[in-house]
Amino acid sequence: MHIAALTEHTGAEVRGLDLSQSISEEARQALKAAFVKHHVLAFRDQSLVPHQLVQAVTLFGEIFPQHNTRFALPDCPQIHYLSNQDHFPDGRRYIPGEGWHTDHSNDSRPPMATVLHAVKLPSRGGDTQFANMAAAFDALPEATRARIAPLLAIHVYQSSHSGRKLMALPDAAKERVPNAVLHPLVRTHPESGLRSIYLNPIRIEGILGLDHKEALPLLDELLAHATGDRFQYRHAWQPGDLVIWDNRCLLHKANGDYDMDEVRYLYRVMLKGDVPR
Ligand SMILES: [Fe+2]
Repeated sequence: MHIAALTEHTGAEVRGLDLSQSISEEARQALKAAFVKHHVLAFRDQSLVPHQLVQAVTLFGEIFPQHNTRFALPDCPQIHYLSNQDHFPDGRRYIPGEGWHTDHSNDSRPPMATVLHAVKLPSRGGDTQFANMAAAFDALPEATRARIAPLLAIHVYQSSHSGRKLMALPDAAKERVPNAVLHPLVRTHPESGLRSIYLNPIRIEGILGLDHKEALPLLDELLAHATGDRFQYRHAWQPGDLVIWDNRCLLHKANGDYDMDEVRYLYRVMLKGDVPR
């Protein structure tokens, strides 16, 4: 097994490992440490069917039940799919994951990690971008860090301020998805101890105790800062890629910049996380 950094701050690729086989405890510990250090791990040359994917991700944690069950695979509902072939009820194409976000932050215990495994990729484009929120926090002026550290953000399923609309939840899923949760705007990673900005433009409805006139420009300013090129790793997908990333210290976004006649289809699994602190 070889692990090589992809940028100085975010991302590493893993070669020489077949995730359909059993993994030694030594390799598992090395992978967990690499995950905390690099935040994104890209395993190359994997070819996992759903039950093998479920088995493989238990290396890193327990499976988190994803909210929008309409995307669950019928014979393996722990896995959802991402596809560019779905449409909103009004006929517009739905590109999942466009726009910067962190997954399911409207949960009281948002998933610590998300895993995508490429099944079918367009011939070009469709990269996933990641932004390192710990590096972005570190680079803020001290006064800004001190100002935002005590703030609590209100997260909902769909923020009324977000330009990007999500697919509505089925009624059965609504019962187990909270109406709103509060999370700190700056969270401390339980394993690395690093502090990160915990932003999510599609889910944050406001900041507790701050007027929208103050909160919305602050959130916009933080997002513009944190998604600067210097904090990014851009993943160009290769056939066989399985990518796991750390939602506790990253934002990510998909890109709908390819020929929509080509199919882009990936399996998605999430892993349980802690209450952000
Ligand atoms: Fe996402």
